[in-house]
Amino acid sequence: MIYLDNAATSYPKAPGVADGVATHIRTVSGNAGRSSYKDSITSSTVLFETRELISTLFGLKSSDNIIFTLNATHALNIVILGSIKREENILISPFEHNSVLRPLSHLVVEKKIKLHRMSFDNNFNIDLETFEKSLIEKQIDKVIMTACSNVTGTILPFKELALISQKHNIPFILDASQYMGYIPIDFTDIPVSAVCFPGHKGLLGPAGTGILYFSDEFKFNSLYYGGTGSNSSSIIQPTFSPDMYESGTANISGIYGLKIALEYLEKEGLDKIRSHRVEMINQLAKELSEIEEIDIQSNLDIKRQIGVFSITSKGISASELTYWFDKNDIAVRMGLHCAPETHKFLHTFDEGGTVRLSPGYFTTPEDIEKTINKLKEEVYVFNR
Ligand SMILES: Cc1ncc(COP(=O)(O)O)c(C=O)c1O
Repeated sequence: MIYLDNAATSYPKAPGVADGVATHIRTVSGNAGRSSYKDSITSSTVLFETRELISTLFGLKSSDNIIFTLNATHALNIVILGSIKREENILISPFEHNSVLRPLSHLVVEKKIKLHRMSFDNNFNIDLETFEKSLIEKQIDKVIMTACSNVTGTILPFKELALISQKHNIPFILDASQYMGYIPIDFTDIPVSAVCFPGHKGLLGPAGTGILYFSDEFKFNSLYYGGTGSNSSSIIQPTFSPDMYESGTANISGIYGLKIALEYLEKEGLDKIRSHRVEMINQLAKELSEIEEIDIQSNLDIKRQIGVFSITSKGISASELTYWFDKNDIAVRMGLHCAPETHKFLHTFDEGGTVRLSPGYFTTPEDIEKTINKLKEEVYVFNR
């Protein structure tokens, strides 16, 4: 099989992850932070070292403010729902995933927030002055946005928008789900109040792992209360991080796998990973552009492309095209990709969305070549 669905979850995982998780389940008995026997301390150390690795790799200053979650959706829900204190005006991009849109829509229904959209032109550009003006005019309380579109792969100018928001003391929450692990990033000079991302996509870790990081200044409530192994004499939830946000038994084996994946990323280097990605992007952009029957819905500017391509074809629906890919043993994703507003922006909503091709770090030029050759061979059938 040729796997081109890494934007959903990466496959294969980093070398050593699968064996590491299995070994951890088989050989480490203890729960993290719950006792002082050897295996319990080993589990606590795994959590501690993984937080440290994330902090170092991405310039996330305080490792205690790194919270382990189940996935990016879980992280986004905690930070979005936990941080609404009064009726707020929230500004989002037109490219948000349902993991942002749905908790926010829930708050709209509950009349707790008003939702506003940034305005981007057809080339995915936003006028920074207009953005700044809208913060003031709409009395924005919080900006929440994705680092790049999970449909088109377009990298958005989140750093510039975060800096402008900071100038106005407006908290800035970043969904970096499609960004992390694919391109070097250092949050030291990007003023995010919180950033959420999964461990199972570009970080090449197992499913069931996600990360929420927040700055010291950003305050939000926990959505969960319970045992943390700390301050157990009190029935009141601890108020220090990470314990405040991490009740119950952690996904220790999954986090152990994530640690192996992060060590692999550190050893490979994010620059090398990005170079591989640029190669994949160039090859896909060039070869797909040569197929007349295929319309590329993605931004092809290499500096603004993370490596996610959406295509449509006039002669065939997205679901039929995906069926064709599957018949040829090529795994891609079809539909709206949980981002309905992006498809309204692209005018691909009514046709049921697009087919998305997303290579990963282990995709080879031969995989792309085989995919394109197959398409070229049979594409005429679609337009019969
Ligand atoms: C931009 C974006 N945000 C959030 C998510 C949700 O990630 P998870 O599946 O880890 O909850 C995704 C998943 O595809 C995504 O693409």
